Amino acid sequence: MRELIIHNMPELPFAAAEALNQLRINLGFCGDQIRTIMMTSSVPNEGKSFLTIQLWRQMAQVGSSPVLLIDCDFRNSEMRRKYSIRSASGEKLMGAAHHLAGKANIQNVIYKTNIPNGYMIPVASTIANPTILLENPRFAQMVAYCAGQFGTVLIDTPPLCSVADGLNIARSCDGTVLVVRSGSTSRRLVQHSAQLLRRTETPLLGMVLNRADTGSRASAYYQRYYGSNDYGYGRSHSHNTSSNGGT
Ligand SMILES: Nc1ncnc2c1ncn2[C@@H]1O[C@H](COP(=O)(O)OP(=O)(O)OP(=O)(O)O)[C@@H](O)[C@H]1O
Ligand SMILES: [Mg+2]
Repeated sequence: MRELIIHNMPELPFAAAEALNQLRINLGFCGDQIRTIMMTSSVPNEGKSFLTIQLWRQMAQVGSSPVLLIDCDFRNSEMRRKYSIRSASGEKLMGAAHHLAGKANIQNVIYKTNIPNGYMIPVASTIANPTILLENPRFAQMVAYCAGQFGTVLIDTPPLCSVADGLNIARSCDGTVLVVRSGSTSRRLVQHSAQLLRRTETPLLGMVLNRADTGSRASAYYQRYYGSNDYGYGRSHSHNTSSNGGT
């Protein structure tokens, strides 16, 4: 199996790791039948990719079964650049789009990573119009294959209100999680996204209120000690995460 190295992924501060812990546990309560989980949000920049990769890492570190992250933000994925993700052998990466376009076997796009138990299907290079790939039956087959190989499959996606990709992807998943950026995304927009997801008939497992200013002593603690880390934790507002993941 090919291998990816994630070069730049600092550990999370305690309060953020703890909030993710709660999300992971709540998702676990949804039942063993929920293996493929789509992470989405209404608009850009709400923290979908951040939460997906952090949740993936925590699930891989804590759990006993392998966890797969599929990057399905084909149009605009930032993951490779942001986390300095590179192929261990130096060879050119292949992603889900290669498989969906019939250019690679599924086994050739699933990478082992330097996170033990953590596997990834990256976006090798962005594409302008992935709709045709997402509507191809190969997409559902790919997700079903991955569900058979991994304990949990997390899927990162583009925002729901920009393009229809998320709705196409949701149809092949067991459940969805809607990320909401605290103090930024309107209630109306969140209701609209929930309604869109409902139409896919894939259960909305829960919502994550991301970057909430909890004002707690714990968040004050990590702001003091992690005021300028790579995630851009600022002093003016805390970047915490709270969740009500669960049915
Ligand atoms: N809870 C958090 N704590 C700290 N930083 C965060 C948090 N959530 C998101 N960020 C940061 O905010 C920025 C935007 O987050 P991210 O890229 O995950 O958003 P997104 O919803 O995936 O956006 P897009 O729709 O463009 O893909 C990133 O730099 C990310 O690291
Ligand atoms: Mg993203």
